[in-house]
Amino acid sequence: MKILFATSEAYPLLKTGGLGDVAGALPTALAKGDDDVRIIMPAYPQALNAVEGKRDGPGLGDPLGAGEARLIEARMPGSGVPVWLVDCPALFDRPGNPYVGPDGRDWPDNHLRFAMLSRAAAMLSMPGNASGWTPDVVHANDWQTGLIPAYLHYWGGRRARTVFTVHNLQYQGLFPATVLGELGLPPESYSIEGLEFHGQVSFLKAGLFYSDALTTVSPTYAREIQTSEYGCGMEGLLRLRAGALTGVLNGIDTDDWNPEKDSRIPKPYSATRLAGKTTAKALLQREMGLPEDPGAPLFGMVSRLTSQKGIDFVVEVAPKLVARGAQVAILGSGDKVWEDALRKLAVSSPGVSVSIGYDESLAHRIIAGADIFMMPSRFEPCGLTQMYALRYGTLPLVHHTGGLADTVEDVGGGRGTGFVFNKPESTAVAAAAFRALKLYDDKKAWKETQARAMSRNSGWEMAAQSYKELYTTLVQTRHESP
Ligand code: ADP
Ligand code: GLC
Repeated sequence: MKILFATSEAYPLLKTGGLGDVAGALPTALAKGDDDVRIIMPAYPQALNAVEGKRDGPGLGDPLGAGEARLIEARMPGSGVPVWLVDCPALFDRPGNPYVGPDGRDWPDNHLRFAMLSRAAAMLSMPGNASGWTPDVVHANDWQTGLIPAYLHYWGGRRARTVFTVHNLQYQGLFPATVLGELGLPPESYSIEGLEFHGQVSFLKAGLFYSDALTTVSPTYAREIQTSEYGCGMEGLLRLRAGALTGVLNGIDTDDWNPEKDSRIPKPYSATRLAGKTTAKALLQREMGLPEDPGAPLFGMVSRLTSQKGIDFVVEVAPKLVARGAQVAILGSGDKVWEDALRKLAVSSPGVSVSIGYDESLAHRIIAGADIFMMPSRFEPCGLTQMYALRYGTLPLVHHTGGLADTVEDVGGGRGTGFVFNKPESTAVAAAAFRALKLYDDKKAWKETQARAMSRNSGWEMAAQSYKELYTTLVQTRHESP
């Protein structure tokens, strides 16, 4: 089977969050079978620098009047998975974050940038395209690739079948209706039966409406997004398309996130040899400027700083934990309001140490060195960091929602791997944190819980198998146009 995997970021080329991890690991897992998987993403400067074996590919012309584009063929470092970079310097030759400029605001031409990515992927999904390779399925991810199924719908013919995966429904790719003329889609697409959403154009809605199959990244989130509480206004459409929607739980890259082999931590460790974890904790305390105390329970957090992640709960609860002799180590970057709130917390509450920024290596050291991993997200489509934490014997404290509910079981029943609370309220977060402190004092029970957490099967094999089955069904039920 030939699969084109379209994404706006992919580790290790460029990553801002979990989508990057998934786009790095899932194609690799699929390619381990007999599938021919290729990734397509924008030719950001970081991507051009990091890929291997670059060669000029076919030209794409100037399909949107936004600049000449061509494809660059290359391979992902490490996995060797083929990748096509959409090289349109007018849109992608910019340093920094793929979505926002140095002022923290969305790039003003994001509609064109991601229409170009989608357009290029759609062109490659048509038979007889200039690359000489035609996929059976094009797998689009999040709003940045939401126009792929829309283009293919209007072009018709024997084009590739489309899968659209929602990694986060909150990001809707909303633009004023006036941009429609720049996207190369017919006027009738601007309709409630199309990509119109409350008087705007929504790239996300295009993906949800026009694709052959929909998936999201955990079974619980697949159910949640059909409700008004979690559906971000798309719940009606998602209920209508419920028959086409499945939840496939993400895996993690068990090579990159492996405490027995991790070169970013001081000493490897495993469930039966935990000495390396003690060393990781001591060095993390030193690195973060916290007192080097092996007995102080250490809460860690690594996160994008957005309201989704419940940073306000952490700001409220952390001083209470410190008052009980615990420490808190946080790495994050994102919204200025949360960056400032955390900086303030670190000043007012010694025992809390905060590093603002994006640091892949420190992320590993926090996940390895902490005792408890805080992830009190209001909603969480899947969440990868809690799965990394489990694998590193760092017991997660999570809200019972989305992928957190599907991956962490509360220790209450005498089994379990973490501390789960039900209501997204700071009192519930505090109560779960105090339960964690209580268990921490029972060294035997703590160790047993760590062993259970570390033995959880979290690789990509199961998810890859589910996607393969979905692709196969789609190809078997192919029809000329939806
Ligand atoms: P989301 O995709 O919503 O951000 P996930 O838990 O799925 O949440 O994935 C987050 C990914 O981004 C993880 O790999 C995590 O380690 C990484 N990450 C988040 N913030 C930072 C940061 N400040 N520095 C380094 N890595 C980070
Ligand atoms: C999104 C979600 C996160 C998920 C990730 C990868 O960023 O917020 O929960 O793990 O995508 O699917």
